Amino acid sequence: MTAQTQTIREPHRLYLREEQIPTRWYNLRADMPVKPEPMRLPTGAVASKADLSPVFADALIDHELDDATPYFDIPEPVLEMYRVYRPSPLCRAYNLERALNTPAKIFYKFEGNNTSGSHKLNSAVAQAYYAKAQGLTNVTTETGAGQWGTALAEACAHYGLDLDVFMVKCSYEQKPFRRNIMETFHASVTPSPSDTTEVGRRLLAQDPDSSGSLGTAISEAVERALHVPENRGRYQLGSVLNQVVLHQSIIGLESYEAMRELGEYPDIVIGCAGGGSNLGGLIAPFMRDKLTGARPDTRFIAVEPESCPSLTRGRFAYDFADTGQTCPLCKMYTLGNGFIPNPDHAGGLRYHGMSPIISQLKHDGYLEAVAVSQTDVFEAGERFATLETILPAPESSHAILQAIREAERCRETGEAKTILFGLTGTGYFDMVAYDKFNRGEMEDHRPTDEELEQGFATIPRIEGIQ
Ligand SMILES: Cc1ncc(COP(=O)(O)O)c(C=O)c1O
Repeated sequence: MTAQTQTIREPHRLYLREEQIPTRWYNLRADMPVKPEPMRLPTGAVASKADLSPVFADALIDHELDDATPYFDIPEPVLEMYRVYRPSPLCRAYNLERALNTPAKIFYKFEGNNTSGSHKLNSAVAQAYYAKAQGLTNVTTETGAGQWGTALAEACAHYGLDLDVFMVKCSYEQKPFRRNIMETFHASVTPSPSDTTEVGRRLLAQDPDSSGSLGTAISEAVERALHVPENRGRYQLGSVLNQVVLHQSIIGLESYEAMRELGEYPDIVIGCAGGGSNLGGLIAPFMRDKLTGARPDTRFIAVEPESCPSLTRGRFAYDFADTGQTCPLCKMYTLGNGFIPNPDHAGGLRYHGMSPIISQLKHDGYLEAVAVSQTDVFEAGERFATLETILPAPESSHAILQAIREAERCRETGEAKTILFGLTGTGYFDMVAYDKFNRGEMEDHRPTDEELEQGFATIPRIEGIQ
């Protein structure tokens, strides 16, 4: 390498300046030729603002239901919090590229550099802010891996709101320190299913040893929110919903600006997909370019666990967002609200459904999806940690694995593609999982077709719709 190419080499980490933090969220739905289907009630009627207002804060319902407005101003108090931990860096994985001997350039957007350890804080701050601005006092939620619960605990502590978290039981047991952080931020944490709600008691009666699922924890959290006195409680969800994808567009908008500064543009954008919020946020402005025809050839890849394969083996149908069947229905790729995935270690990806935005884009052929095994995921995660010094969350390692596979393909074809993936969080609370992997005790789970059929049987019939 000459001295000159060394001096113009792209930095390992590019931090935008504080004043470059986007001041508006981008609503990808505005540019989608086919909009995601609206939320519906079990009767089949489209859910209105009045239907949703007992459960969600008003401003968030406006975000949820608006398919037309392309940009929403980020309120100044939210921006003020964003400035505490953003912009997040766009990193170039030079060591990984070298180890793979690939001509590809690999970039990743690192969202783990805040106390919650993940991208979840981007929506948590917004949701807690709007709850406070409405005069609410209590917030309830579910958490799988624990990142969302931690993020919302931080945000609620900042705005002075009481928070009840229902944590999927297997994560509660695998990750005691996650609970400790939430409690440090004064949240109350209950393992789900629990005997503290009607829904939880019903599910425990059916399966006393249930390891829980996000769908079950959501049901419990919604029930709790509806019982807060004087209508002062609301439920908040860390993924799936349109509003969350909107808030997470901050990831994509910053990545877009950073890439523009470098004179780069990704050929392939990769994200792990649990409920689809980081993926939806990361791809948003790049997908806009694809949808408008400005950059039609960019590939977008969702990576999910083979143990919970909603996009690759699920049905595109209206389904309840929760196992207790208390929430409205979303049109999405789903394994059925009754599907309980194996207690794998990427807790944040163990959800039966998928964001309606991501689902529609997949259905319309704008986005690909792959399913991968957890032992391959951990191998990729450890390889990345060794080379790039960040210990990734198991969820994030799904994207790492696919980025490695794409870069290896480039090695075979000789193509110098530019790959961008989302490194959504850190794995410092996933040491039980890393330990299992290191001792060779981790197993892979791929549900059989018969097992999937049991889940599909719980997808509701709706008169006149499906
Ligand atoms: C670190 C991390 N990445 C990804 C996810 C998946 O969520 P989503 O698909 O909404 O981004 C989670 C969810 O808990 C997470 O904690």
